[in-house]
Amino acid sequence: MTDALLLTGIAELTTNTPRPGDPTGTITRAAVLVVDGRVAWAGPGADAHGAVAAHDAGAAVVVEDVDGRAVIPGFVDAHTHLVFGGDRADEFEARMAGTPYTAGGIRRTVAATRAATEDELRARLAGFVAELHRQGTTAFEVKTGYDLTVEGEARLARLAAEVTAEVTFLGAHVVPSEFTGDRGAYLALVCGPMLDAVRPHARWIDVFCEEGAFTPEETRRVIAAGAAAGLPARLHGNQLGYGAGVRLAVEAGAASVDHCTYLSDDDVAALAGSDVVATLLPGVEFSTRHPYPDARRLLDAGVTVALASDCNPGTSFTSSMPLMIALAVREMGMTPAEAVWAATAGGARALRRTDVGHLGAGARADLVVLDAPTRVHLAYRPGVPLVRDVFVGGARV
Ligand code: NIG
Ligand code: FE
Repeated sequence: MTDALLLTGIAELTTNTPRPGDPTGTITRAAVLVVDGRVAWAGPGADAHGAVAAHDAGAAVVVEDVDGRAVIPGFVDAHTHLVFGGDRADEFEARMAGTPYTAGGIRRTVAATRAATEDELRARLAGFVAELHRQGTTAFEVKTGYDLTVEGEARLARLAAEVTAEVTFLGAHVVPSEFTGDRGAYLALVCGPMLDAVRPHARWIDVFCEEGAFTPEETRRVIAAGAAAGLPARLHGNQLGYGAGVRLAVEAGAASVDHCTYLSDDDVAALAGSDVVATLLPGVEFSTRHPYPDARRLLDAGVTVALASDCNPGTSFTSSMPLMIALAVREMGMTPAEAVWAATAGGARALRRTDVGHLGAGARADLVVLDAPTRVHLAYRPGVPLVRDVFVGGARV
């Protein structure tokens, strides 16, 4: 047996493998056995020696005592826009002085991204991946959408595919300036040559369905083209105001509809009656001063909720999942347990992944050791860097 790791001394282990009365599958005084990059066993520390023997891991096992700390699954960030050039600090500064956010700012990042070399974009992305790991994120999605030309979108998708399997084609982010006055031509490009060029690198298709971006009819058309090309949908919807995003996501059987800041009762009921995950992105409300989405209302209706960072230079230039958890608890009515679940298992649901977001036997061994005795501290001690050790596939990063 090679590569076996036994973490012992875990004060509180969140496995996200539900048990009666405990949907987050918490074990106190726990241990985890990792063999060949997967969770082989998780349970009470008192049973650890038996587990090591049962998995024939005795000879090779490295034992690490985490000394009374909490362990959780690595965060699964199901919504980021991490391949881009430049930043928009000036726009953020103006917004904090009262200028409202509009989607038009996206075009500035498009210009900066087009001007960036491939090496610059790759290096920037590598920096973001290191930043994610440092903060406990061990699986993540990356969208295209800041180039909006055929070759450029393919370049962004290819670069994203170098760092994650979860690449989303977002050619329908905004209509680029060169197509102002001919939306139809841009839509035809997105649904035809651009989709063809991006498809080999992508797993999902996304549309920014919002006033100032794409209409419901346009959104439907892009979703249909994606479906025909084998790319299921995940959508941006109901971010800046009430609209059709949620309805279209449910109609299309999308994996997720993201933002969900402005929801009617019908939207909530439609989500509750579907398998679509509501991915909430409170970093956006933080940095646009919009009201936070009402997670409590969604949870009480029975909707599956995920939390993600939406890391992008316009509306949420943060990759911190602990910040999302703290905001969700303080501002959105979630309990700490719900928020940690949403940032781990919820993100995995939004990506239709069963190998991450939990620590049941067979899961990829993506774990975070917190410098705290319980996961509650993620919300209780906001802004404090509590992520101590991060393992991806059983290897420390
Ligand atoms: O998720 N909503 C669309 N896209 C981004 C914002 C992009 C930008 O402003 O650059 C978002 O908030
Ligand atoms: Fe986004």
